Amino acid sequence: MCPGNIGDYFLRYISMALPLEKIMRVAKTRGFINQSSEVYGGFSSSYDYGPLGVELKNNLKRAWWESMVYKTRGIFGLDSAILMNPRIWEASGHVENFHDPLVEDLVTHKRYRVDHLLEAHNIETDTLTMDDMRAALKKHNIKSPDGNPITEPRQFNLMMKTHIGPAEDTSSLAYLRPETAQGIYVNFHWVRESMRARLPFGIAQIGKAFRNEITPGNFTYRMREFEQMEMQYFVRPDNGMKFFEEWKEKRMQWYISLGIKKENLRFHEHTKAELAHYARAAVDIQYKFPDPMGWKELEGIHHRGDWDLSRHSKYSGNDLSYQDDISGERFIPHIIETSAGADRATLVFLLDAYEEIAGGRTTTTEATKDVEAVMRFSPAIAPVAVAVLPLVKNKPPITELAHTIAAKLRVARVGLVLYDESGSIGRRYRRQDEVGTPYCITVDFDSLEQHTVTVRNRDTMSQERIAIADLEQHILSRRML
Ligand code: GAP
Repeated sequence: MCPGNIGDYFLRYISMALPLEKIMRVAKTRGFINQSSEVYGGFSSSYDYGPLGVELKNNLKRAWWESMVYKTRGIFGLDSAILMNPRIWEASGHVENFHDPLVEDLVTHKRYRVDHLLEAHNIETDTLTMDDMRAALKKHNIKSPDGNPITEPRQFNLMMKTHIGPAEDTSSLAYLRPETAQGIYVNFHWVRESMRARLPFGIAQIGKAFRNEITPGNFTYRMREFEQMEMQYFVRPDNGMKFFEEWKEKRMQWYISLGIKKENLRFHEHTKAELAHYARAAVDIQYKFPDPMGWKELEGIHHRGDWDLSRHSKYSGNDLSYQDDISGERFIPHIIETSAGADRATLVFLLDAYEEIAGGRTTTTEATKDVEAVMRFSPAIAPVAVAVLPLVKNKPPITELAHTIAAKLRVARVGLVLYDESGSIGRRYRRQDEVGTPYCITVDFDSLEQHTVTVRNRDTMSQERIAIADLEQHILSRRML
């Protein structure tokens, strides 16, 4: 990875008028996501989350954790290490199988993923083997994007390597985990015993994963460092398909319940040729990304059979089978995996929430202008929970009351509370709409006498008069997951 002059590239890229580029610009200017190391010209495919981006991503991770660990019986949390015994990656099949086919431009020596080159020529690659891809490259005389001849394809392992300790030899070789799942499998016995868990039960984990992607891109869609939210559900072998179907539906509902539009989501069942080496059945939840991306994977749900625990039993020499305490039967549990990307989900929630209203909006209390931008996040995950706005900034009783209200809401842990007194009230509402703040509390002259405020709704622009004493409950109840 070479830093290059990513800064210039990024700015040129975002000035184009495509929706993904628009979101990149919005994400940067409003403090959601920006390229990493910007003051050094950037660093390829690495991104930083700003004040609002980290709130949105944390809220999504919190929503996921709540739905898995707190609301589902028998799912327990885990935080396993990123660096693990390298034998784990031999057992999992990553050393042998975690490859992407790659070609090199013979002139520029830039490298490209073969499937991406073929897809750029409208050749569907989902079901193609390595030999099929080789043949397709020849048949269509495909060149590099710079028009140069390319090498024969070869497999490239995506795991990021590092060395433990001062010596950089094969004995010190370790990998940055390419998925969080393996940390769960190798802790299966520990969690089962310490929590006295019986099948079916699950283990959930959120954490960073690393892949040396050949062609990262599409903003945070494909990165080299990213975060996963994975849950592994351990079941009796005869129950595998039943739980696979259940988790498929539950995961789809999770996105819909948090506000993603149904028409932008669909299932994509894997064909036999698409199935990973470990999978008996697999389905992706796909999202309809802006053109030219189109439908792409957001989350995978996999029926992994007994692959993982059998392999770790064999490679570790520790029996990871399970004994049913009623029937006495002993077997290797099967695993249903739900594997979501926290960064990819954050991008999807940003894209889906963003709306531009041509001509603006007019109500009895407000009129917006030209093209009005609104982010319609669900109140449960919106990065800013509420904004507190004094109607005027030069009347200390009003500003002091607004500060007191904001402080109380912070103590009530409603989430991020912003205070804003600069500019006209209409302008301040617009600013909050642009970052998707669902409620604005306005403190006015009546607030001093009547102990009430207005709560303005982002979507309807309606204003409700609420007693100051009821505010915490009013906001908290709308923040509930
Ligand atoms: N344990 C199974 C597993 O890791 P995967 O389909 O390779 O399956 C699961 O990854 C999810 O992780 C994907 O659906 C995506 O949301 C996220 N993900 C994978 N690679 C990614 C990358 N390079 N950048 C961002 N997110 C990624």
